[in-house]
Amino acid sequence: MSLDRLPTPCPVIDLDVLERNLARMALRAQAAGVALRPHAKTHKTLQIARRQLAEGAVGLTVAKTGEAEVYAAAGFDDLFIAYPVVGLGKPERLLAVARRARLAVGVDSVEGARALGAPFAAAGMHLRVRIEIDCGQHRTGVLPEDAAALARQVAPLPGLELEGVFTHGGHAYGCTTDAAREERAREEATRVAQAADAIRAAGLPCPVVSLGSTPTAATAMAGVGITEVRPGNYVFHDATQVALGSCGLEDCALTVLATIVSVPAADRAVLDAGSKALAADVRRPTPDGHGIVVGTSSRLTSLSEEHGVVSVAAGDSFHVGQRVRVIPNHACVVSNLHDVLYAVRRGEVEEGWPVAARGRVE
Ligand SMILES: Cc1ncc(COP(=O)(O)O)c(C=O)c1O
Repeated sequence: MSLDRLPTPCPVIDLDVLERNLARMALRAQAAGVALRPHAKTHKTLQIARRQLAEGAVGLTVAKTGEAEVYAAAGFDDLFIAYPVVGLGKPERLLAVARRARLAVGVDSVEGARALGAPFAAAGMHLRVRIEIDCGQHRTGVLPEDAAALARQVAPLPGLELEGVFTHGGHAYGCTTDAAREERAREEATRVAQAADAIRAAGLPCPVVSLGSTPTAATAMAGVGITEVRPGNYVFHDATQVALGSCGLEDCALTVLATIVSVPAADRAVLDAGSKALAADVRRPTPDGHGIVVGTSSRLTSLSEEHGVVSVAAGDSFHVGQRVRVIPNHACVVSNLHDVLYAVRRGEVEEGWPVAARGRVE
């Protein structure tokens, strides 16, 4: 089927670009001698995850217990939940996942770790845990200097096996120069390696030293002592990655296909894609509209739920019924808004990929 026949708004994946992105990151990881464990949060599909494994990924990263359940049920047998899993019923659900797949989970507190271990101990099993390190993002995780103290408390808990440390250099999304982004990447690597060294110096095992984000991956994975990298967004990229300088426009694999439904003034055209199709995330590192209208100089200046308002630039013109493609500010959120991603090569729709782990936020 031709792309021209798809109903809008809908997310479209350019297969040539996707394949190039997958291969490039796989080669980088191979050259750096680190395991690639991509974060599946970006696409949430089984089809792209299979392609990542075919390119040499050792397993998948996910954020949520519900996402791990989807991938384990589909036969993915090596999963890491890069999130401090805490909450009612979660340890028991993890036990069920761990019966089907090799599972590791993030921890950053002794209370959280103890609760996770309890059902595993009762079942005579061990859950692999990785201590989360705060490398500067100041979200979750302990500081590198506190890692050994937490490791000493976590390692002896029943039902757990300390597997290593992990971090995410998410604060690189605020960098406005390549030099600053690379500096953050080096810090990410140094800090997580420092935590691993401290844990080993305390006489505890720390075989896995994992890091990664799309803007920092290339530099950070080359750091001394790093064993694993976990980029997610690199499969699609988006307007934020272009603004950060971590990719070019030609590397953006996901666009939202939309139709102009109104041209109420010469300087204004309106798309059928609003925040429910494009997500309302602001572009980083500097806010600038709601995405790139491909092949034009016009800016998508405001969104309401079902409307995307384009400020028409001099030299551009739009007509009712015209179809356009928009590179969103944040591709990971867009896939979570749609049931199906349409895989397209040179204008022809080859497949529709269900967003299998969509909405598994629990
Ligand atoms: C813990 C963790 N690891 C890895 C990633 C992947 O980062 P990116 O999407 O920048 O590639 C994320 C993304 O949010 C994350 O939160």
